[in-house]
Amino acid sequence: MTDDSRFILDPATSDLHADNDRLRRAGPLVPVTAEGVPVWAATRYATLLAVLTHPDMSRDIRFWDAAARAAAPSGTAIDRIVTDTSMLNAEGEEHRRLRQPLTAAFSPRRLKALRPRIEQLTAELIDRLAGFPPDQPVDMRKEFAYPLPRDVISYMIGIPDAHQERLHELTDAVAQIGGGPDDSPELRHDLHVLLGQIIEERRGTPGEDLITDLIELRERDGGRLSNDELFATIELLFIAGHVTTVNLITNAIGALVNAPDQVKLLTSGECPFSAAVEETLRWDSPIAYFPMRYARRDVEVEGVALRAGEPVLACFASAGRDPEQYGESAHVYDLTRQPVNHLSFGHGPHFCLGAPLARLEAEVALSALFAAFPQIAPAAAPEELAPLNTLLGNSTRTMPVLLGPRAGR
Ligand code: HEM
Repeated sequence: MTDDSRFILDPATSDLHADNDRLRRAGPLVPVTAEGVPVWAATRYATLLAVLTHPDMSRDIRFWDAAARAAAPSGTAIDRIVTDTSMLNAEGEEHRRLRQPLTAAFSPRRLKALRPRIEQLTAELIDRLAGFPPDQPVDMRKEFAYPLPRDVISYMIGIPDAHQERLHELTDAVAQIGGGPDDSPELRHDLHVLLGQIIEERRGTPGEDLITDLIELRERDGGRLSNDELFATIELLFIAGHVTTVNLITNAIGALVNAPDQVKLLTSGECPFSAAVEETLRWDSPIAYFPMRYARRDVEVEGVALRAGEPVLACFASAGRDPEQYGESAHVYDLTRQPVNHLSFGHGPHFCLGAPLARLEAEVALSALFAAFPQIAPAAAPEELAPLNTLLGNSTRTMPVLLGPRAGR
């Protein structure tokens, strides 16, 4: 990598997709600076797939060139991800050891059992929405997209009621819900402390939840999961299982309220709501850029030579709009697109553990919303909405709509 003519990724960009168009045109792997860190950006679908599955590309931070790693700023979003000690940055046997205890919680059987709970939480939120004046803007990120995944993951993890309020204050900031403080290393620290306290408290109060499952596993077979690993796993689930799904539901609402012809395909039954979920994942991926893969040795990817130790950033939102993969209509939101294969949940051994849950939540949420408020309409043009100020997430800070009257009431 050379240091001249690098693109600088802007977390506050007002047009992520235009930035990504430029990056894709610049090459399959493009030298960029992200939060002060020089990295290669894997911009195209085929390149991203190659990077995610390449045997010589690893998530293990020990492969990052030591000098470059030492020079990287701390306290950033990238720093938080690359230093995470959960399964996310483990490989091989170590990765299987950390991931395997959780797979049952996300199995089709467990998710089927969870569905009524998700439907009930959604119905409660819809009832609350119906209490807003139908002709005044309601922020769907704050009032709908955000509370649903938060409450579902809190229930799955087993967060006691007494801690919900403080947890909500902290997650408001992490999920960039307006009106409160913004995401910061201090708030992340407070969230970390609170989750630690909750896990300690839960040792004496088993239930049917993930904290109990992991504590039992640790007590039965301590060698399989250390205390720190248990903690890192719960924290990863809480954060990974939350903000990304908020972005997915927000982005899907934004896409649909601005495309009434597509909504008709859904409400007439021509397309299932799962098609809206998949097309939103492709067209407006909840994750913009995700760190990191490191070259384990000198390696060539899609014709570009990487030196051992160089890091690569996964550009999920960019891959979803790659014309080489989706043709000239890549930028069009089209529910009839077949098949909607995308990389927004990753690929290979680190494929998103929570993908079936995120899909289920989004499908339940969208179908209930559009059934309850058939006249829902945007209250602002898409270009007026401020983006999240982060390299990782791709969404807007608000999603104002006019709900119109509730159906059948
Ligand atoms: C729309 C919502 C979501 C999106 C777009 C998303 C995206 C991703 C992506 C791209 C990865 C792979 C990262 C990589 O290979 O570098 C990943 C991993 C992961 N996700 Fe998700 N995710 C979502 C929701 C969830 C939910 C709901 C949960 C859990 C409750 C979750 C838990 C995880 C975990 C534990 C991993 C690490 C898997 C591993 O390293 O083996 N995610 N996610």
